Amino acid sequence: MGNYCGKPVAHVSSNFTGSKNKAVNKTKQDLFTSHQKAALQTSQSNVNKSISNNLKSFSFNDLKEATKNFRRENLIGEGGFGYVFKGWIDEITYAPTKPGSGMVVAIKNLKPESFQGHKEWLTEINYLGQLQHENLVKLIGYCLDGKSRLLIYEFMQKGSLENHLFRKGVQPIAWATRINIAIGVARGLTFLHSLNSNVIFRDLKASNILLDSDFNAKLSDFGLARDGPTGDNTHVSTRVIGTQGYAAPEYVATGHLTPRSDVYSFGVVLLELLTGRRAIEDNGPGFSDETLVNWAKPFLSDSRRVLRIMDTRLGGQYSKKGAQAAAALALQCLGTDPKFRPPMVDVLAALEGLNSSNTMPPMAQKSGTEIRATKHSGHSHN
Ligand SMILES: Nc1ncnc2c1ncn2[C@@H]1O[C@H](COP(=O)(O)OP(=O)(O)OP(=O)(O)O)[C@@H](O)[C@H]1O
Ligand SMILES: [Mg+2]
Repeated sequence: MGNYCGKPVAHVSSNFTGSKNKAVNKTKQDLFTSHQKAALQTSQSNVNKSISNNLKSFSFNDLKEATKNFRRENLIGEGGFGYVFKGWIDEITYAPTKPGSGMVVAIKNLKPESFQGHKEWLTEINYLGQLQHENLVKLIGYCLDGKSRLLIYEFMQKGSLENHLFRKGVQPIAWATRINIAIGVARGLTFLHSLNSNVIFRDLKASNILLDSDFNAKLSDFGLARDGPTGDNTHVSTRVIGTQGYAAPEYVATGHLTPRSDVYSFGVVLLELLTGRRAIEDNGPGFSDETLVNWAKPFLSDSRRVLRIMDTRLGGQYSKKGAQAAAALALQCLGTDPKFRPPMVDVLAALEGLNSSNTMPPMAQKSGTEIRATKHSGHSHN
């Protein structure tokens, strides 16, 4: 069901600089300095040149109309970038239409004070304007109007994976659906890693995995994506940005980024799908800061003990063999040494094998169906 009840979801992600401190999402909130303003103006003049022809340029007034003046009841989420609204546009002309007619879109409105946001906005346009794949969310257009920066996407009916896994009162997702979601994400990442430029997504997490009406998964948020190493280079060096709890340890420690950093984050998401627990539990002060990975690792290497950490909201409705195989795969993805993590293409093959082999419970439900809850369980720096 997602978060479509007019109530914004708290921003759970954050940028961090490798410290152990709880992230503060600082870069997204930085105010403009005069130097930055100048840089922004320069980059603004380059924007139109670099924006892909595949995208529609919207005026701010059109988007105001499409969202009924960004009415609160059309608010579907909030992230570090800004608020996300539901809007309606004509399927052919993309002109704003009345709510309920034409096609539904998701409109992300960049917070005006965010300098880093402009860069992310442009990166998103540059990648999603070029790349199309069934497991990447479709970017329809953008708006650059004075200080306003918006992005217009296909609307993903079921919202984010984060909301389905962790939000109170939401129907738990069935095992078969969880595996299909993992496969969709793995397909999206495999596609990115297979491109000539070895695109690294860099911000894989449950809130950046969106689900369509059939629970098919698509990657969203390319604001932190960047081209990976090519030729003899083993990595690209970057300023460390991403989300605590999901980012690979060597990347946090050194800033060295490789496609295997995405593999690690994928391992974290797979663990979240298995356990129904967040990468980092936000229990408030006084509680342990232990990450999901550190907590779960000792269980993952023992095929009997692994069943003890499975999401109790699955109500036992999963294949034991399937769960053990998925846990073993997660453990490989979470290897401390990136060299020993499998490439995404192998991860995808393992998941597809798991899906087609006899690893589903006899009562496995169709992808997209939900189950009833039983108990709650708890150097180009860039
Ligand atoms: N295309 C879309 N279709 C439907 N809902 C969407 C779409 N894009 C975003 N949302 C909703 O808006 C929420 C906020 O998205 P957003 O990407 O801005 O923030 P986030 O992913 O939670 O955090 P971050 O800023 O770190 O990416 C999502 O969790 C999702 O529920
Ligand atoms: Mg996001």
